[in-house]
Amino acid sequence: MEAIILSGGFGTRLRPLTYTRAKSLLPIMNKPMVSYLIEMLPDSVDTVILAANYKKIQLEEYFETSNTNKTIIVNDEPKPLGTGGAVKFAEKYLSDEFFVLNSDIICSLNLSDMMTFHRKHDAVSTISLWPVENVSEFGVVEIQKNGNITKFVEKPKQEDAPSNLINAGAYFLESSILDYIENGRLISMEKEIFPQIITDTESFYGYQFKGYWMDIGRIRSYLDIHQDLLIKQNKNNHFGNNIVNNGIVNKTTVGNDVVIGKNSKIEKSIILDNAIIEDDAIISNSVIGENCTVCSKSQLSWVVVGDNEQISANTIEENKSFWTQEIPKEFPKKQIGNVIGE
Ligand code: GDD
Ligand code: MG
Repeated sequence: MEAIILSGGFGTRLRPLTYTRAKSLLPIMNKPMVSYLIEMLPDSVDTVILAANYKKIQLEEYFETSNTNKTIIVNDEPKPLGTGGAVKFAEKYLSDEFFVLNSDIICSLNLSDMMTFHRKHDAVSTISLWPVENVSEFGVVEIQKNGNITKFVEKPKQEDAPSNLINAGAYFLESSILDYIENGRLISMEKEIFPQIITDTESFYGYQFKGYWMDIGRIRSYLDIHQDLLIKQNKNNHFGNNIVNNGIVNKTTVGNDVVIGKNSKIEKSIILDNAIIEDDAIISNSVIGENCTVCSKSQLSWVVVGDNEQISANTIEENKSFWTQEIPKEFPKKQIGNVIGE
């Protein structure tokens, strides 16, 4: 059986970290996000199709050297085809039933249980559901007691939302749904295809689960998931290999080959591989990219520093994103603003 992982988004809300990497390779506790998704797949899935375009070479390179017990296919879209178009573009690899996963979700969903639910209801499509307070950034469903979904609205205004149950970003689909998707066009699964399947088949189901669900779409949620995982794993910090630490580090994830200077204090932050934090720096609620240097006596709070940047000595900044290099040409044009708060 196959699983498609939708790995083609640019991750605009995660810039500047996504100027240099595919969103699904963003490390969470020093492990790429996509690895968490592959690990959650049941044994019955033997083939993983990574629906990719932006920075797809990085994905190919990553999977050349990392061991999974599944066949990995990086399916390169010539241009972004949207969540629906990307699934259609994988058609030649798909059999009768398959999973589709958004690549920016970490959750406790048991996909085998969702598949059992799907078969019991003889469904054409089953999507995972999670309750949230503010639904306006998500797909929202109207659902009956037996799990039959009667309406799907993508990103409605809060007052127009049919419920507080949102699309949690994992689907189990019958191949007949592929007939709904046109070839080669940018198509949103959520806006165009799901509503049509509901109308035509009346066999579109929602599967609710318990535990946890986290969407890593923004810098703020990227920081939050690290705090949540530290608590879940009952750890104060998470350290990679080969770290020189002469500072005071608290509630922080530190990548490999990082140097932390004397008297530097780092709290609730993420320091990626090969970063150097010089002496007497204070860093809180911030992300420091790979190969960065934060020079001495800098004070950074709610700051994101893109890869390969240098922060000069005595810099004092709050709520700021640092990026001085060229923005990749293919990246959607958007101003760098208040990245953490947005
Ligand atoms: N291959 C490919 N091509 N993948 C894409 C493309 C594309 O053109 N566009 C987006 N993706 C991928 C993203 O990388 C992500 O993994 C997934 O498709 C969903 O796109 P997002 O851009 O992250 O959508 P969203 O977060 O606004 O909303 C989606 O996720 C919510 C849950 O977090 C929707 O599925 C909502 O309905 C859902 O509630
Ligand atoms: Mg998303």
